[in-house]
Amino acid sequence: MPLPEQFIEQVKDANEISSVFASYLPLKRAGRDNVCLCPFHSEKTPSCHIYTDSQSFYCFGCGAGGDVINFIRLMEHLDYVESVKFLAQRAGIPMPDDGGDKTSMIKQRMLEINREAARFYRDVLISEKGREGWIYLRERQLSENTIRKYGLGYAPDEWGALKKHMLSKGFREQELIDAALLVRSQKSNNTYDKFRHRVMFPIIDRRGNIIAFGGRTLEPDAPAKYLNSDETAVFHKRSNLFSLNFAKNTKEKFLILCEGYMDVISLNQAGFDNAVATLGTAITPEQARLMRQYCEEVVISYDSDGAGQKATMKAINLLSDAGVDARVLQMTGAKDPDEYVKKYGPDGFRTLLRQAGGAISFELKKLTIGLDMDSPEGRASYLKKAIVLLAQVESRIDRMVYVSDTAKLCGMTPAEIEKAVEERRRYNSKTAQKQERQEIINPGRNSQTVRELNLSPEDKAQRGIIAFMLHSPDYLKRVEERITAEHFPTELYKKMYSIIANRIKNGDSLDISSIGDEFSAEEVGRITGIISENNLLPYQKERLYEYITVLEKYHDKYFGKKPEEMTDSELLEQMEKLRKEKTKKT
Ligand code: GTP
Ligand code: MN
Repeated sequence: MPLPEQFIEQVKDANEISSVFASYLPLKRAGRDNVCLCPFHSEKTPSCHIYTDSQSFYCFGCGAGGDVINFIRLMEHLDYVESVKFLAQRAGIPMPDDGGDKTSMIKQRMLEINREAARFYRDVLISEKGREGWIYLRERQLSENTIRKYGLGYAPDEWGALKKHMLSKGFREQELIDAALLVRSQKSNNTYDKFRHRVMFPIIDRRGNIIAFGGRTLEPDAPAKYLNSDETAVFHKRSNLFSLNFAKNTKEKFLILCEGYMDVISLNQAGFDNAVATLGTAITPEQARLMRQYCEEVVISYDSDGAGQKATMKAINLLSDAGVDARVLQMTGAKDPDEYVKKYGPDGFRTLLRQAGGAISFELKKLTIGLDMDSPEGRASYLKKAIVLLAQVESRIDRMVYVSDTAKLCGMTPAEIEKAVEERRRYNSKTAQKQERQEIINPGRNSQTVRELNLSPEDKAQRGIIAFMLHSPDYLKRVEERITAEHFPTELYKKMYSIIANRIKNGDSLDISSIGDEFSAEEVGRITGIISENNLLPYQKERLYEYITVLEKYHDKYFGKKPEEMTDSELLEQMEKLRKEKTKKT
């Protein structure tokens, strides 16, 4: 059931786009408009523009864009109707009666299933049947309070305990499969519980929904120590963090990033409410940006083993890309924060936090690996890399500290190293200036223009015609006199054109928020990009006719002739085009 256009307008009016943006990330004013670091890709200089007049946004770096509804769609991983609902709620506007659409009902139902499953696991844990799980958790020194706070549970060593319970509660088998709690056996076609003989950790999102589970095995030689829910309609492991529902309320200005659920829970029990962990994967750019929303700094507290240290390097890079300062906690005498805090207590861990050095000193130390620092060659090769790194440190005081450390390590004077670093910085800033000049000469040097420069004439024509239809729908007749949707060689543009043409014929609104319903969030971003790149040129019918001609010619060339009428090279060319078209990500 589509939402009434009037209602959508009302919701948009009540949610000024820059104020919605500002509730997620810091904005910088740029004239009448605002800019910010794009929340949808990692960058160090802002290329996401928020336009006051058109109430839209567009990122010149990654092409995300659209109106406030599309922003919420991308930001909150909601579908179109859910996003409108979200914004209506934000503004205190009641939904029209038939607002309950199918996907959001499915998701709602899945969250209910997860909540009921969590209740089941918890009830088992505190019952006789859960004895083994309870003993395990208590042996790991978790208090009853902590167990309750995290809603921990136990999945018994049976094939159908959860299934039986959930069916008795009225949930259907297929729903439980969709929620990734039941698995269908390939051989017998029967379904059985995914989690068995494990202590269960509910994974809870920022809004307090149970979106998935992690389960730790109690079998000594299980193939997987931890098992996580598969991705479902409500679980995207790349963009959630364990315990963020607690950490988001911390008074601290920093978050502690750990590897494991147990690390986070132990730290929490010891009073560190700002610990989070990734969900069984290495940290992703989405998670780095998510952290940026809640803190200024992250202290990486990975395991002290080789794998943990390697992962630290990756985390430093991703966090820095996302614009978050990182420090690195160095642990000796324990393999992970869980063990450390048990062995040395909260005060011991607090000391570690205080001593955690900046990402730079961690990286500087890493540079020495594999080098013989006792030999002049080793030191020279270290120095080369160190200078590049040191030149990136913006704060002069920090730079001095690192320069002096490096000097000591290489047996040189700080002045010598400082000179080299300053030289490098001058070189860097010259390169940056050059880029800036380029940007003034050719505004928006970023991917949009790059993409535009790379556009083939057909792509330019397809995009141009779409922009024209949105800008001057009256031209549709003239377009239709000469070409149809079939003339659009790219599937995506063909789809956009057909939908837009249909809407024009039905007299439907062409506002980006109204058409958003018929496109994915990513497609809306592309349409916004198409509009903004075409707005730089005049909407004169000559231009439109040129585009039509391009598509006509293209069509004649590749589809006008029967294959047997083509020359060999035309045939080859067409096959090549078709092949490219197929592999091209639309
Ligand atoms: P404990 O032995 O319970 O203390 O584990 P840990 O917290 O020390 O975890 P470990 O360092 O072994 O792993 C850290 C995190 O990686 C865990 O919390 C899981 O999220 C994930 N993980 C560990 N083992 C597996 C596995 O076998 N499969 C998957 N998918 N994730 C795992
Ligand atoms: Mn551990």
